[in-house]
Amino acid sequence: MAAKSECIKSHAIMISLPYQGHINPFVSLALKLASNGFSVTFVHFEFVHQKLSKAIHSNNTEVDLFSEARESGLDIRYTTITDGFPSEFDRELHFEEYLESITFDLPSIIDEFVGKTIESDPYSVHFLVSDTIYAWSGKISDKYNLINVSLWTQPALLFSLGYHMELLREKGHFPWKGNIAEEINYVPGVQSISTRDLMPYFTKAESEYIPTKKADFILHNTVYELESQTLSALSKYQPNYAIGPIRFSKNVPTNDVSKSFWSESDCTNWLDSKSPGSVLYVSFGSSVQTNKQVTEEVAYGLLLSEVNFIWVIRPGILGSPDNNVLPFGFEDEINIKDKGLIIPWCDQIKVLSNPVIGGFLTHCGWNSTLESMWCGVPMICYPIDWDQPTNRKLVVDDWKIGINLCDYGTSVDRKQVAEKIKQLMSGNSSKSLRQEADNVKAILQKAVEIDGSSEKNFDRFIEDLRGKIHETALNMS
Ligand code: UDX
Repeated sequence: MAAKSECIKSHAIMISLPYQGHINPFVSLALKLASNGFSVTFVHFEFVHQKLSKAIHSNNTEVDLFSEARESGLDIRYTTITDGFPSEFDRELHFEEYLESITFDLPSIIDEFVGKTIESDPYSVHFLVSDTIYAWSGKISDKYNLINVSLWTQPALLFSLGYHMELLREKGHFPWKGNIAEEINYVPGVQSISTRDLMPYFTKAESEYIPTKKADFILHNTVYELESQTLSALSKYQPNYAIGPIRFSKNVPTNDVSKSFWSESDCTNWLDSKSPGSVLYVSFGSSVQTNKQVTEEVAYGLLLSEVNFIWVIRPGILGSPDNNVLPFGFEDEINIKDKGLIIPWCDQIKVLSNPVIGGFLTHCGWNSTLESMWCGVPMICYPIDWDQPTNRKLVVDDWKIGINLCDYGTSVDRKQVAEKIKQLMSGNSSKSLRQEADNVKAILQKAVEIDGSSEKNFDRFIEDLRGKIHETALNMS
């Protein structure tokens, strides 16, 4: 059957959430699918396309994310659609309203786009690959008889908690109002988690961002060995495939077109002037915002620690037009001492892979977490929102490759910051953190080898997908 179905033309329509942390794994998945012989149409919202183009070309030349991939022979088409909002609408300022709208209200735009894409390629079997968070994927797939592939870009633990929301509700843990710790030990495949480690959106009466139960295939950007119990339990309900870290997948042609929302600063020279393991990398990712109390205490904490650091302060991190993120005179002081570098954005994987990096002060976004693990870099965790508090639990409590910056809550103090930095970079526990980080790095690197779990899971997914495509083709004829 596999041989026959390989002859059937099949075409993936891929729609990511319009955020850096979701686009990055989606682009990798597109390349991987195309490398396996599928045609791919990858769609971005127009505003994302403009943002990416501006980050690469100051002269407004339009970026084509997959031009290199196409040159290497892959069939990846790249196109844009509207998200229904005017271009001047401030999507960051109205983050919640915007996310809610694209999660729930988008179907008519998607419907039209999918309809046209199918019309333009009538002899292919089409399948939808969308972010698990999009609530409309089932409806669109049903309407067009599409195979529904869902990419979950966070740990399987979060998928499982969302999946079992009704069970949590029954036990009085959803919606979760208190700040007290109660143990949750009844979710299948989740041995134990404290209510304090639940995602903050679980405090809302009706959590909107729950994973779909309707997909034909769920791909997880995680590694089986790290979340085996959770993934095995989930597989009893739906076909699940742990294929992460997808960004480091092998057998994909290089596609060096940058996907960054902001221009990347090259810090290689500065990094190369430092000694191995001596630099702390600091970044809070692409979307969460923080406040001046935090940035100032982190700044003073960095100075007090006397450790070398590179700190990504992206535009708009304070969520206000205030660009004075740092204390007065801070940048001059670090320049004189040649202790630190402040940049708006960088190629994070390139930085983390540099042997001078000895630690990562992170907000625990899942991509940053995976990238740090891939490079064997232990973390200081400062989760702010979304999946980050739950990711922290995995990093610190389960895998023991990081420490907390502070207890629950977001208020930080410079002395505490300095103490935690010293603890990570050179303290007594530093050695065991590094050993564990090396172990986890080996697990990740093995997973993407040809006989590794993620690569095998991807092959299994492709085989199952081809089976489904074959079935669909038979029904169509
Ligand atoms: C969001 C959520 O906040 C996060 O919790 C969720 O897991 C994914 O979506 P974000 O906050 O941007 O993502 O964090 P993260 O998941 O870490 O993704 C950031 C991405 O930006 C990473 O892939 C990282 O490599 C990249 N990055 C970050 C850069 O390329 N350069 C930088 O300077 C900083």
